[in-house]
Amino acid sequence: MTTVRLVGSDPSVDGSFRADHQVQMGLVRALKDALPEDSRNGKATEIYDQLKVYTGAHFLSEQLLMRLHGYADYEQHCQEHEELLEALDAAQSSLQVGTMANRLNTLKIIEDSITRHIATSDVAFERFVSATSG
Ligand SMILES: [Fe+2]
Ligand SMILES: [Fe+2]
Repeated sequence: MTTVRLVGSDPSVDGSFRADHQVQMGLVRALKDALPEDSRNGKATEIYDQLKVYTGAHFLSEQLLMRLHGYADYEQHCQEHEELLEALDAAQSSLQVGTMANRLNTLKIIEDSITRHIATSDVAFERFVSATSG
């Protein structure tokens, strides 16, 4: 989980976000690997739950940091977080039933959405923090 420091220039903002994002994407990859096994041991279901909880906690952590930094695009960024969480919720039943091709396709959509968010909105916030922290 992201460690939040409140004072001054904080290069760890980038580092801790990167660590969070690595965990997030690691869980997506683990979920992809576990999907074919899920009907036997429920491993994918467990990883899906971890991804959902971790993603929700990470988003709250990011949002707190945005508020602390007076980030102008806070509302827009929160909206994207909300949409990603809704997409994760909506994917749950698709990941548990249906053909493997459909399940992998659903996961690919989730993976692409999270990757795009990290590469655009999260990077924009990191740049804002770097530019405005003394
Ligand atoms: Fe993030
Ligand atoms: Fe974000």
